[in-house]
Amino acid sequence: PDPERDRLIQAYEWSAKFYHYLLKNTEHGKAAMDYLRGRNFSDKMIDQFQIGYAPDRWDTLLQFLEKRNFDLAEMEKGGLLSARGEGKGYLDRFRGRIIFPIANRTGKVIAFAGRILGEGQPKYLNSPESRLFNKSRILYNLHQSKASIRKTRQIVLFEGYGDVISSWEAGVHNGVATMGTSLTEGHVALMKSLADEIILSYDGDRAGQAAAMKAIPMLEGSGLRVKIALLPSGVDPDEFISKHGGERFKDQVIDSAVSSIKFKLIYLKKNHILLEEDGKIAYVKEALEVIASLHSSTEREVYLKEIAAELELSYDSLKQDCNLLRASMQ
Ligand code: CTP
Ligand code: MN
Ligand code: MN
Ligand code: MN
Ligand code: MN
Repeated sequence: PDPERDRLIQAYEWSAKFYHYLLKNTEHGKAAMDYLRGRNFSDKMIDQFQIGYAPDRWDTLLQFLEKRNFDLAEMEKGGLLSARGEGKGYLDRFRGRIIFPIANRTGKVIAFAGRILGEGQPKYLNSPESRLFNKSRILYNLHQSKASIRKTRQIVLFEGYGDVISSWEAGVHNGVATMGTSLTEGHVALMKSLADEIILSYDGDRAGQAAAMKAIPMLEGSGLRVKIALLPSGVDPDEFISKHGGERFKDQVIDSAVSSIKFKLIYLKKNHILLEEDGKIAYVKEALEVIASLHSSTEREVYLKEIAAELELSYDSLKQDCNLLRASMQ
């Protein structure tokens, strides 16, 4: 029994309901509602993900919690309030922000992420790490997606809240997010215990693609199969769905996810100008290292032939270089 933990969970549950109510039913929530509508968040998703709004005031939640006799020092430690400093009491931690409740795998809200309306820093303000909330072990939306994950033995892994929510509406019900791009060994172990295959669906910008390159060996190292969903450059899954719709997202992005080798080759290729000899040679060098590490000679042949055709090189010389590389890797 851990009464402090139970009280904090109770406070988060009530606060999430309160913020959701304020978003949907009050004058304060109107601008936030307009912002969400402008981003194509539907009423159905706003309800299902219990999205809320924290008004731009000092004491909205403070008064709510005070009336319900919560210990304010405890609420500050748990990340719902901030200390005013010098023993002068407390104020709301989340002000003027859209609230995304973050639940643990049993569905208990244990943290909030607060997004600023429009531009500004920080874009997301999170609850601090606590006994309840350990970001490196929590996957956003796991409580709702675990049924589908159990059935499919597959997880679609996103970066952020909007990606999970939009793709859910598109029919992808096995999606979770790491809430940023840093995948931890804790996340990997958790996913390995639930699934056999991961579809990595990170943002199509530099940060997202670089994060995918880092995530692949971690996931494969644990024994998970990995596929990578490709997006137009600079676009994230949420934006793709807003622009092109959920059907196209499922067909052209999720169902068209490529093997990790294919992704690595595409990723390496982007860094070189293939029309120049130097660029071509540098790309081939890097690509050969990826291909040489494949255990199956059939697979090596497939990719070597692809590169040979694409760069107008002879398969024989590529194969020879690849074999030399393999010999040096022993
Ligand atoms: N993130 C965060 N704090 C930030 C920026 C990002 O915690 N200052 C986390 C959030 O979980 C966010 C995820 O990283 O959802 C992915 O970041 P990013 O792609 O920048 O944000 P989006 O999810 O695309 O947010 P939005 O669509 O609202 O701009
Ligand atoms: Mn509701
Ligand atoms: Mn991103
Ligand atoms: Mn994004
Ligand atoms: Mn986004």
